[in-house]
Amino acid sequence: MIKDFIFQNPVRVYFGQDQLQHLREEIEQYGQRVLLVYGGESIKKIGLYQKITKALEGLQVFELPGIQPNPLVEKVRYGANMCKTHKVDVVLAVGGGSTIDASKWIAAGACADCDVWNFFSTDDTPKKALPLISVLTLAATGSEMNMGGVISNPDTKQKLGRTSPLLYPKASFLDPTVTYSVGKYQTACGSADILSHIIETYFNTGSSMYLLDSFMEGMMKTVIRYAPIAMQQPDNYEARANLMWCSSWAINGFARACQNCAWSCHAMEHELSAFYDITHGLGLAILTPHWMEYCLKEENMDRYVKFATNVFGIDPTLPKEQLAKAGIKALADFLYNTLGLSSTLTQIKIDDTEFDTMAKKACAGGVINGFVPLTPEDVKAIYTKCL
Ligand code: NZQ
Ligand code: ZN
Repeated sequence: MIKDFIFQNPVRVYFGQDQLQHLREEIEQYGQRVLLVYGGESIKKIGLYQKITKALEGLQVFELPGIQPNPLVEKVRYGANMCKTHKVDVVLAVGGGSTIDASKWIAAGACADCDVWNFFSTDDTPKKALPLISVLTLAATGSEMNMGGVISNPDTKQKLGRTSPLLYPKASFLDPTVTYSVGKYQTACGSADILSHIIETYFNTGSSMYLLDSFMEGMMKTVIRYAPIAMQQPDNYEARANLMWCSSWAINGFARACQNCAWSCHAMEHELSAFYDITHGLGLAILTPHWMEYCLKEENMDRYVKFATNVFGIDPTLPKEQLAKAGIKALADFLYNTLGLSSTLTQIKIDDTEFDTMAKKACAGGVINGFVPLTPEDVKAIYTKCL
């Protein structure tokens, strides 16, 4: 039975090489006072910063650089205060998922009387947020077209994601050419993240829709086809364009529709990056094949079979269990051999010291009610398989 669902995605997307000409008109709809948020030096090296500041000439632009990967709540607080002090009308995020996520919560924090971490530590939700516009520079998280934002708090060793419809960007600019400068490692991690967003949705407990399954299989094939090309030929427009658009659609609510999915690998990965500050996509790449192996059971084997045959083209006449395992192996092979990502936690210097704590936190006091329900013991067992 296909469950009822509501779908609405309000983000206006400007896709392609010549779309920044529309940036100013988008910004000016909301006012003249802009907070420009970005990360390190990458946007300056590729000339994007220069293009954007030129496009905004004459407006009051306040800058907040230095958003780090796995963005910190302290920086969000700082940005929210800047908005209040300077009476900012609109937030402009230029960067990857970390910059966009931080900007979302800056936009919400700017309109809140409470500390922004309240929205993570309690059930309180934002009542208002400044408008946000994003210029994406890295195909990975899908933050450019969704209403979520993930923030880290080193004081509590937490990395938490929260959503609010107020956090959708009003508009996002997606120019594949600005991702030419993304290095091999970051391209691999971003691609692993996109793939994980699809897998977390594809392996779900409820009944799916043929349309959505086929759509997700197409997206997974897109990543598998184009990530290696983008790594070998960084300025291959077709590869970068496919990855960029796939990043947005993997996690913009469309594929999720009627599915029950609890994003098990993300819950486990967010603990890894909270404790060890590792790259999100890398953590997912290590966890996902082990999680799939751990969850494989007679009663859910058909999903794995579909995955193996439709995504990796494995011989459908093989016995079911063999087919299911071959699909997992093909995924591992893609992540570790084709993309060249580390395959174990040991390789990235993570041992079992924090496994008990991380496992409990990943389950947030209960179980992860995902494709297969996972208790803290299960999560610890999966972490252990990853060593
Ligand atoms: O700081 P700069 O100089 O920009 O360098 C960044 C950073 O070092 C670099 N980079 C970005 N664009 C580049 C570039 N380097 C060269 N050329 C470019 N064009 O890449 C590095 C990583 O950037 P970051 O923004 O951290 O990467 P990503 O987009 O993977 O974002 C990761 C964050 O998003 C969260 C993750 O947990 C993590 O905190 N997620 C957000 C989600 C969401 N909002 O829906 C969902 C995801 O599952 C994820 O949890
Ligand atoms: Zn992710």
